[in-house]
Order: sequence, then C-alpha cells, then structure tokens
Amino acid sequence: MSVESLISRWVREPIQKLKAYYVPDASGMIKLEAMENPYSFPQELQSEWLGVLSEISLNRYPDPQAVSLRKKMVDVMDVPEGASLLLGNGSDELIQLLMLALGGEGRSVLAPTPSFVMYEMAAIFTGTDFIGVPLKGDFSLDLDKMLESISQHRPAIVFLAYPNNPTGNLFSRSDVEAVIKAAPGVVVIDEAYHAFARSSFIKDVVKAENLLVMRTLSKWGLAGLRVGLLAASTKWIDELDKVRLPYNINALSQASASFALAHKKLFDQQAGQIIEARGEVMEQLAAMDGVEVFSSDANFILFRVANASDLYSRLCEAGILIKNLDAHGTPLENCLRVTIGAKEENEQFLHQFCRLME
Ligand SMILES: Cc1ncc(COP(=O)(O)O)c(C=O)c1O
Repeated sequence: MSVESLISRWVREPIQKLKAYYVPDASGMIKLEAMENPYSFPQELQSEWLGVLSEISLNRYPDPQAVSLRKKMVDVMDVPEGASLLLGNGSDELIQLLMLALGGEGRSVLAPTPSFVMYEMAAIFTGTDFIGVPLKGDFSLDLDKMLESISQHRPAIVFLAYPNNPTGNLFSRSDVEAVIKAAPGVVVIDEAYHAFARSSFIKDVVKAENLLVMRTLSKWGLAGLRVGLLAASTKWIDELDKVRLPYNINALSQASASFALAHKKLFDQQAGQIIEARGEVMEQLAAMDGVEVFSSDANFILFRVANASDLYSRLCEAGILIKNLDAHGTPLENCLRVTIGAKEENEQFLHQFCRLME
C-alpha cells in the first residue's frame, strides 16, 4: 500500500482536511507579524544567565513537576492562595491539554470569532466540536449571542482571549463575568497579552469554581523558552495534571524562566516601553487618511485599509513582515495586524507604510 492510501485509510478525516499551521519565512525582514517582544534577554543579565545554564546536567531529565519554577511563578504572577499552576510547553500546549481532558467526541468548545486560531485547531485535533460566536462590528463580545449559544450547546470550555487576538481589545469585564456565570463548563481566560493590558482575572480563580486563567512568558520576551501557565484552584490543576506529559518543560527553559522571574522588574520595564511605543504607532496610523485603527491593549495593533492584501505584499517587498488578516466577507476584511517592535523597527514600518499609502 502507498503512503497516500495509508494516510487516506487511517488518518482521521478532520486531520486530513487540516492545513499545518503556517509560519512565513522572515529571514532578512523586519519581523512584526508574530507578536514577539523585540527585546532579548537584558544585556546586563546575559553572563549571569549563561552561568546558570552551564550548571544544568543535560544527561538528566528535568524536574517533572518544575517545582522551583512554579513556586517562583506563584509569587510573581499574583496567583491567589488556594490556587495552583500547571505549566505547558507554551500556552498552545495548555490549550491542547485542556481539550484532551474536557473535549472529545460529543463535546464542544466555544469561543468568540475572530480569536486565537489555536482554540479551533486543538478542537479539531481532539475531535471536539468548535462553536464560534461572531464578535460585534466593534469587536466587543456579543453577549446575547454568547449566552444563547452557551445555553444551546453547553460547551465543556469557553475560551476568551483577554485582550483578544487578533483584534487587540479587552472585552468588557461585566460581559466576561456574565459568561463565567452562565457557562456550565469551564471558562478559560487567556491572558497571553497581560503584560500590556494591566487588567486580569487571575485573582478570581478562587472565587468562581469554573474559572481558569492562562498566561504565557512568550509575550514577555521569552517566546523561545516555550513556557505557558494555567492558574486555577488546586483541585482543577491536580485533575488536569493527569494528561500532561512528564518533563514537558525542559531543563534549560525551567532554569531560564526561573532566572528571568527573579529579574521581573527588567522585563516589566521592557513591557512598559512597548506600551509607550504602541501609543506612538497608533497615533501615527490614526492620523493617516484611509486608515481605520482599532484600540489595543496588547503588543500589536489591528487596522483596516482600502486594499490590505495589496499593501501587505508591497510591505513584504519593502522588507517589512506584518500579518495579513484580509478575508473577503469576514469581519477582518481589509485588516492588517502589526506587532510593536523596537523603535527603529516601528519607524521603518511607519516610513514604508506612509510611502505606500501615498
Ligand atoms: C491569545 C493567545 N493565546 C496563546 C498564544 C500562544 O502563546 P504561547 O507562545 O505561550 O504558546 C497566543 C500566541 O500568539 C495568543 O495570541
């Protein structure tokens, strides 16, 4: 039997229909498409950090429970008493792990659309139905539709990205609270962009039994480490920990993340710089004719122009890679998303953008 026939006979149909997550090649370009933090490990910490790494015994498996790292994270991330943390190889892995535990055949997960694509992808991986509830035109939650859909489908999980990706906005707190109250299953508030938002539900995980809050170190300048965290009451964490693969956080990541958390102030300063730059880029975009800019509490800005796909290609030709979200007949028609980079990168982007808009 050929590989093609084996695939068509044995790979589950929804997986055959999937396209692998595409990451464009950004070599030689100014890379503003992936919501990465432009700042690397602070220079003044480099040699101390390398010293920490040199102590690691790579012949040994890492601590399977990442005890020391989790302890530090509990303090730094304001995890309330009575709650614990589950760590994932990025929050992507936590999303998949939640689906493994709560999803599957005959179950559904619900999220507003557009939102982070991995919610739907992980649902497909695990044979879980995905229910998308469109956001309103201004990208706020359509609370009536959300409540109606929750009552109709009774999803095992509701995902709310707070702030939302790709739109950048924070949903209204009272809308989120209404969803938490109405959901029969769990509500996962995905606070991936928390460092730029200054609004959080993490303290509430011990108040609402069905509330779980997810964060990541990726947007805080450590995307290469692949460390995400889920905060919830200890009973939830103990239950979900059963489907986590042992040693999912490698030794280099555990040590580097612990080291970084001990220097939280420096990373927070970098986040502060990004917030400031976001204001400047937003102001300049908003001042241009033909650009509709959406407000952002994240490290990226969504905006709409007359011919997004064409502009996107021309920006690529000019060496600037942003994200093209343009899809005809959808709420993101003619929308582009730019990540806030370092000062020179933002200037280059604005310079080329202005030139192409003329
Ligand atoms: C809302 C949201 N959640 C989670 C993630 C994934 O983060 P991680 O790098 O921790 O897997 C992203 C990545 O862009 C995101 O936008």
